[in-house]
Amino acid sequence: MPGKVLVTREIPEAGLRVLKEAGFDVTVLSEAPPARDGLLEAARGAKGVLSTVTETVDGEFMDVAGGGLKVVANMAVGYDNVDVGAAQERGVVVTNTPGVLDETTADVAFMLLLAAARRLGEAERTLRAGRWEWWGPKLFMGPDVWGKRIGIVGLGRIGQAVARRARGFGMEIYYHNRSRKEEAERELGARWMELDELLETVDFVSVHTPLTEETRHLIGAEELGKMKPRAVLVNTSRGPVVDEAALAEALEAGSIFAAGLDVYEEEPKVHPKLLERENVVLAPHIGSGSIETRDRMAVLAAENIRAVLRGEPPKNPVEQ
Ligand code: GLV
Repeated sequence: MPGKVLVTREIPEAGLRVLKEAGFDVTVLSEAPPARDGLLEAARGAKGVLSTVTETVDGEFMDVAGGGLKVVANMAVGYDNVDVGAAQERGVVVTNTPGVLDETTADVAFMLLLAAARRLGEAERTLRAGRWEWWGPKLFMGPDVWGKRIGIVGLGRIGQAVARRARGFGMEIYYHNRSRKEEAERELGARWMELDELLETVDFVSVHTPLTEETRHLIGAEELGKMKPRAVLVNTSRGPVVDEAALAEALEAGSIFAAGLDVYEEEPKVHPKLLERENVVLAPHIGSGSIETRDRMAVLAAENIRAVLRGEPPKNPVEQ
């Protein structure tokens, strides 16, 4: 049974251990995202591939890997980088890593929310540059977080973990989701709203939808225009869910107060107008990046590969 497993990036050892102990011939490609040519070359003959968000795993990739390819395990909860339809056509199972990164990613969403509201990035830049001259009664004031209204767009596992944090801050919780989440409504006291109404109602908007054709630019100029002038937008989902150019304009015009971003439309590029702005906190896609969670993600992805290659059902299959 054992065969070649390609791991596209250097991942935590715990994940590699699962694959090695199962007897696979493991190739770890690179620390940095591999160039396309090198990625395709390395895929030849692989039965299993452990990919990350930086690799495009499409039909061409699967064809180059060859007919022996049985599983692509994406070490992420999002799998917009994998062409699941192409995989289904070729009988390749695709898996992701849900459930192990919710709390960790919610921590980062809340970190960005607090930092954007209370202007931590701007304040720290000022201090480090030696420009902090005195304590001031009006220095770096931003809106309160506690007791305010939060609107969660996409009340899945991560959105719910954000809602739990918001409750701890005494916030009123609103959400928009394609389907109503009645249990979460009961447990979290969350209220469903149409997106437009939610944007007009809340002080903080945190986005937690997967990237699909329906959610691309879900938050654009029109939606930003509905938000309150003191509102803060946080995105830890996928960059293209927010129209970056429109966001940069809204931040420049002061039509919203601030934003906190962990994801971008063309990572690792960040819209130049965002880089210029003080009222946006920019993190380099670190949502799930705790030591413990990255171990869990690597292990889960490896276990999914092991299961499929042993002819067992994987824990986290995804469908188109
Ligand atoms: C990371 O971005 C993930 O989807 O897990």
